[in-house]
Amino acid sequence: MPDLTANLAGIKSPNPFWLASAPPTNSGYQVMKAFDAGWGGAVWKTLGIPVINVSSRYGAINYRSNRMVGFNNIELISDRPLSENLREIEEVKKYFPDHALVASLMVETREEWRQIVKDVENAGVDGIELNFGCPHGMCERGMGSAVGQEPEILQLITSWVMEVATVPVIVKLTPNISDITDPAVAAAQGGADAISLINTIQSIVGVDLDNFVPYPTVAGKSTNGGYCGPAVKPIALNMVKNCAQHPGVGIPISAIGGIENWRDAAEYLLLGASNVQVCTAVMHYGFGIIREMLPGLEGYMRDKGFDRLDDFIGKALPNVTTWEHLNLHYDVKAHINPDKCIQCQLCYTACEDGAHQAIGLPQNGSRIPYIIEENCVGCNLCSLVCPVENCITMVQKDDGSRNENWKDFVAAGKAPDSFDDERAGGLGHWVPEPASALK
Ligand SMILES: Cc1cc2nc3c(=O)[nH]c(=O)nc-3n(C[C@H](O)[C@H](O)[C@H](O)COP(=O)(O)O)c2cc1C
Ligand code: SF4
Ligand code: SF4
Repeated sequence: MPDLTANLAGIKSPNPFWLASAPPTNSGYQVMKAFDAGWGGAVWKTLGIPVINVSSRYGAINYRSNRMVGFNNIELISDRPLSENLREIEEVKKYFPDHALVASLMVETREEWRQIVKDVENAGVDGIELNFGCPHGMCERGMGSAVGQEPEILQLITSWVMEVATVPVIVKLTPNISDITDPAVAAAQGGADAISLINTIQSIVGVDLDNFVPYPTVAGKSTNGGYCGPAVKPIALNMVKNCAQHPGVGIPISAIGGIENWRDAAEYLLLGASNVQVCTAVMHYGFGIIREMLPGLEGYMRDKGFDRLDDFIGKALPNVTTWEHLNLHYDVKAHINPDKCIQCQLCYTACEDGAHQAIGLPQNGSRIPYIIEENCVGCNLCSLVCPVENCITMVQKDDGSRNENWKDFVAAGKAPDSFDDERAGGLGHWVPEPASALK
């Protein structure tokens, strides 16, 4: 049986699935219920000087039949008094001593940081997360992403916390910055034990076309929110990879962003995360999703022969390189399986109008398209639009014997170096005459 126990910079949990700091961790009631359901850890809703929240506060992107593909909020930190939160943290720890309970914190002055760190440690937390990520409301008051966007200030405040903290400290980063590794390096230099990412992305999810105000609406006005949910996962995966590969970071990573199931979690672990945190999926489907996540990850590990998480954390990193290291001779072409084809011709339209005119329609009465191999550049588009799983597959055509990347090309003097250089173009890049479009 694979061992799912996780260890993030000394914070141990029975499995790598934590709740992120957000409404599902607002109260002891919720955290207890989540631990009972199987979650391994929780980062408590951010504590500080309690705030006043507005109504309404959420908006969403629904895509076709899927609701909340992207989720947006303008909620601030906890609006409950600190003492109530501390009492509940203490109680949760009594019932669940082996689960990871982390306090997310956000205050302003050095004195406030020192005080609140001591308070949550006295309540028994296993770790502290510094919320330098919230991109709405709190940043207007000089906190949250206002700190995360200024690496020097982030480093300074982290060092204030490190002066007093006796439990591991995680710095939570904002994605609202051009290079995520700048604040990640600053966190490491400030002495943080780990980083977590991402917090939400500044966003407006839509505008009410009748009342001329974006969502969510508060008495006829709105403000930018923070975007999360499945839509942000690709952005977060890339940022986690960037931090994991950066030699100046070098501290463990807790990954957050669009995680709904064990596969999402496994992807983050393969890109270097030591554990994962979940918010939107729990707000959408409840704590019960953990019942699929645990056996799912366990089954994956069993299939791959991994005994523990460390066997595959970061395993995909050596395979993520820069563009200039990709093999320019690798050659794939689309292949249509006629037995699976439902003759919708979506692939034909996509390739004809949006790619390389490499799919033809038969003139013999059949509606099954065919690939014109000499025109196909192997871009994948047709296989992505095809509604039938594995109906269009990409088949390797080169024999793998030639490996030459952009760097090699430049070194060998084979790279185009003038505007009309005839050596330009990728494999099979055929272009029809413009006027043939009108026939
Ligand atoms: C309604 C809401 C409130 C949130 N509040 C906090 C918070 O208090 N502190 C914090 O660090 N992150 C907060 N977040 C951000 C989440 O912890 C998480 O970083 C983000 O939602 C991305 O994860 P997801 O895609 O699983 O939702 C909040 C998110 C939402 C949707
Ligand atoms: S998109 Fe797929 S199913 Fe539709 S015609 Fe093309 S190959 Fe057939
Ligand atoms: S892989 Fe790209 S170029 Fe080739 S047939 Fe499909 S859409 Fe056209």
